[in-house]
Amino acid sequence: MIQTDTSGVRRPDPCCFVIFGATGDLTQRLLVPALYNLAATNLLPDHFAVIGVGRADLTSDDFRNGLVEALGKFATRPVDRELAKKLFNNLSYVQADPSLDGSFDTLCARLLDVEDRYRTQGNRIFYLATPPAGFAPIVKALGAAKLVGEEDGGPWRRVIVEKPFGTDLGSARALNGDLLSVLDEDQIYRMDHYLGKETVQNITMLRFANGVFEPLWNRNHIDHVQITVAETVNVERRGAFFDATGTLRDMVPNHLFQLLSLVAMEPPSRFEAGAVRAEKAEVLDAISHYTDEQALANSVRASYGAGTVNGETVVGYREAPDVSPTSTTETYVALKLHIDNWRWAGVPFYLRTGKALSARKSEVAIKFKAAPFSMFRETPVERLAQNFMVLGIQPDEGIRLHFNAKVPGPAIRIGGVDMRFKYADFFEAAPSTGYETLIYDCMIGDAMLFQRADAVEAGWCAVEPFQRVWRETKGAGLATYAAGTNGPSEADALLGRDGRSWRHL
Ligand code: BG6
Repeated sequence: MIQTDTSGVRRPDPCCFVIFGATGDLTQRLLVPALYNLAATNLLPDHFAVIGVGRADLTSDDFRNGLVEALGKFATRPVDRELAKKLFNNLSYVQADPSLDGSFDTLCARLLDVEDRYRTQGNRIFYLATPPAGFAPIVKALGAAKLVGEEDGGPWRRVIVEKPFGTDLGSARALNGDLLSVLDEDQIYRMDHYLGKETVQNITMLRFANGVFEPLWNRNHIDHVQITVAETVNVERRGAFFDATGTLRDMVPNHLFQLLSLVAMEPPSRFEAGAVRAEKAEVLDAISHYTDEQALANSVRASYGAGTVNGETVVGYREAPDVSPTSTTETYVALKLHIDNWRWAGVPFYLRTGKALSARKSEVAIKFKAAPFSMFRETPVERLAQNFMVLGIQPDEGIRLHFNAKVPGPAIRIGGVDMRFKYADFFEAAPSTGYETLIYDCMIGDAMLFQRADAVEAGWCAVEPFQRVWRETKGAGLATYAAGTNGPSEADALLGRDGRSWRHL
């Protein structure tokens, strides 16, 4: 077991952490447990305070009590009362609404008071944990109240923006425009929680800390790549949000494209935010832009019907609460993409993601080209096991290489075997929500794990052809699958046409 090494870990500057959407689900389930985990691992600044902002009329005591309760429910490690008390003592609540003139005056006064009391030196993080409609108005109101300005050598001001960042290319551009009219790009931290996952970050280490893989990592040796994010959860209580959003927008330009860009980007010249983010944006920008016809031929969208997932009966998507009975929103997407550059010319990237599937599994599978011929007469090339390298993101965290070996015995027989690395065998995982690294990185000013404006826009640009053609064809191309299955047969046909098949879920 290799212990996590915390030597050389930078202690963040003193700062005040202001949460918009402070009474919402995200704050309770993820942000507060993450702040607690940071406190428990001694990664919060020595001088630190939290201000919750919301529309509800609450006292700081009400707010604090709500969060104590939430921590009791959602903490990912046993809660030490003294430590929790210390964290919650530095916490207060302000009622504010960006649409009301002067509403940020109270926030301004509270900030100055808190900064003085807790000696946070004027450094501020504003975390926008609100519905997306709130992002631009809040940032504009922060600008108008002069709460986010920076001066040379003065305190820093940073804004974390949750996903979804826009709903298409136009709205993402407009939102970037609004934010950049108040803030500099290096003050904006666009969140994608997939980048907080160790297994996702490890894709970079696997590729660039090892000499052995990089020579193989191109069109000469790789046949195709499969990226899967399969979920067993259904839309549950999120019907209203989901029906207006759909799986493509909810998952592809963000989470799936994070995986794709880390697997496919060129080696950055330095391991620092500017260089890494430039390469990620570049590769997203190289995704082929399909015509309407190509977009239809290279995509499958489907919604789930009634079925059974993990032994539980699930009603069909259109019967779910807050979903229109005539909805044409997709809960499953499969795409075949190409990356137009020298490294990847001719190598298809197949992406699939969906809800209410038979298994929860996120992985990137790299399929290497088959041996050119088989000298083993009894086993023709087609019967050899396929050489897959599988990067398991969750819940099976690890890396697996599938290759051929001799089956012991006098006859020449060949069988597929696995070489396997499991995180849990080597590293002790700290209990986490996945948000700790991202909050910590924002506190130390490292934007590597956040999305830059150009990458967000390149991502939307790549899905734009699908959005366009699906809008035009309305529900016409929508397939179905029963909840609890592996998805629609049309997705199998998408690979079948190329003589390939999806890995088992
Ligand atoms: C969120 C999506 O961003 O990611 C959800 O809105 C999805 O629909 C979730 O379920 C998946 O995240 P994870 O970490 O559970 O894979």
